[in-house]
Amino acid sequence: MSSPAAEPANLMEAVVSLAKRRGFIYQSSEIYGGFNGFFDFGPLGVELKKNIRDCWWNDMVRRRDDIVGLESSIIMHPKVWEASGHVAGFTDPLVDCKVSKMRYRADQLFFSPIVVDGKTVGYVSALESEKTTEDLQAAAESFKRKKAIQGTLEPVQPRDFTAAREEEIPLIPSPATGEPGSLTPPRSFNMMFQTNVGAMNDASSVAYLRPETAQGMFVDFKNVTDTTRVKLPFGIAQIGKSFRNEITPRNFIFRSREFEQMEMEYFIHEDADWAKCHEEWIVWCEAWLKSIGLPESHLSRHTHPKEKLAFYSRGTVDIMFKYPFGVQELWGIAARGSYDLTQHAKASGKPQELFDEATKKKFVPHVIEPAVGVDRILLAVLCAGYAEEDVTDEKGNVEKRTVLRLSPRIAPVKVAVLPLIKNKELLVARAKDLYTKLKRKYAVNYDDGGAIGKRYRRQDEAGTPWCVTIDFDTIEKPGDTFTLRERDSMQQRRITEAELFALLEEQVY
Ligand code: GAP
Repeated sequence: MSSPAAEPANLMEAVVSLAKRRGFIYQSSEIYGGFNGFFDFGPLGVELKKNIRDCWWNDMVRRRDDIVGLESSIIMHPKVWEASGHVAGFTDPLVDCKVSKMRYRADQLFFSPIVVDGKTVGYVSALESEKTTEDLQAAAESFKRKKAIQGTLEPVQPRDFTAAREEEIPLIPSPATGEPGSLTPPRSFNMMFQTNVGAMNDASSVAYLRPETAQGMFVDFKNVTDTTRVKLPFGIAQIGKSFRNEITPRNFIFRSREFEQMEMEYFIHEDADWAKCHEEWIVWCEAWLKSIGLPESHLSRHTHPKEKLAFYSRGTVDIMFKYPFGVQELWGIAARGSYDLTQHAKASGKPQELFDEATKKKFVPHVIEPAVGVDRILLAVLCAGYAEEDVTDEKGNVEKRTVLRLSPRIAPVKVAVLPLIKNKELLVARAKDLYTKLKRKYAVNYDDGGAIGKRYRRQDEAGTPWCVTIDFDTIEKPGDTFTLRERDSMQQRRITEAELFALLEEQVY
């Protein structure tokens, strides 16, 4: 029996701790103190990540007739990034604290004047979080108390640092020191990582690690249309690493400097109903997230306001996820018009057009782009799946179990094979035989160490949907059945090998 699953008080801390403890995610270069913004994926993490990728690839590419795959190089000709606008415009506003040497993204650094009886008596600052306004208000109250200022404190009016007036900047305290005077005005900071290609180390050899996979699809657009039989509307999809020199990597793997993207460029006729196609892709992405186990209650949409869109953009909708640190972007679905192909045509001198048989005219296709990060999905499934429960055994003892309710589609291990005891030859032989058969197709664990209850708990924490126990009934009674124990309900039933394979076939796709 179990009590209803409860979220721990600090879910994020619990998820980070489980991720480390069970070998999902490690800090990169940990023995050297870690490397901010970089992560390693351990034995369970790498399986989970691979399963997320495989599900996306199967559903997005293999199971559709209108989408083909691509793997372009990570380092591309530097002109790609000039044409795409990244060299000039892929920037974040950076603020330095000259005293602490800390760096902040200006749009994540908030401040407010402290106003008492209509008069500004100072400034407070706080980093962006779910409770920025409360933090600023508390800081303003503390300031007034410490300086023994009489009068009525007005509610704070948070603005981000990009909106700070020149004369306000020297008065705003640095979040690092609490003192004003050390913050610099925001300046543009390009987030692309630079490298040099070849033996020379000068301006002519500068190249970039790609900050998105998308440009590969645009640059290879003609290669794909010339070498395959794709017809509009069609998509080109790619999964791969991207790199961004984020000023403030944060929230574990949510915003890192090296991450993985799954992007698809869906090309449509210039006269096609782009808004309908955009909406269809948003619906597809939402359904896909649910198919890998994310609860609908954690998903929402954010439509970018018209005034914040790039000039070429027709509309962008983000699918948002309720992370423990707030509702944040998971998947962006953008209608980008013909901007990218047009830019590359101009910069390369090679037309990026198709021929319209009906009108006998050439045209540049438009594009809808769903772009998502594998790491953000992985973090979302860990956060949504984590639960702690009180479990009562048959003897009435209550113990805590931590369980990761991952969908069988993405769970790192699908089944654990558990021989009840280790010293009964026939029983162990049957367990090994089943394990070997399952291994041909699925990621499976064989665990014969410790009490059966302990083994179940280990698999619960790893998110393994099913355990099969090979017991005395398996070898002594007719039917060759095992005990199947389900992770979420903890219910047990007898099952044959054929039924087990049928269950896996149905649930792991
Ligand atoms: N081609 C469009 C593009 O790259 P984006 O919104 O910058 O758009 C797409 O990135 C997705 O990539 C985001 O929705 C997010 O899931 C993921 N992503 C972006 N920056 C990331 C970072 N620093 N760390 C982890 N994931 C990131």
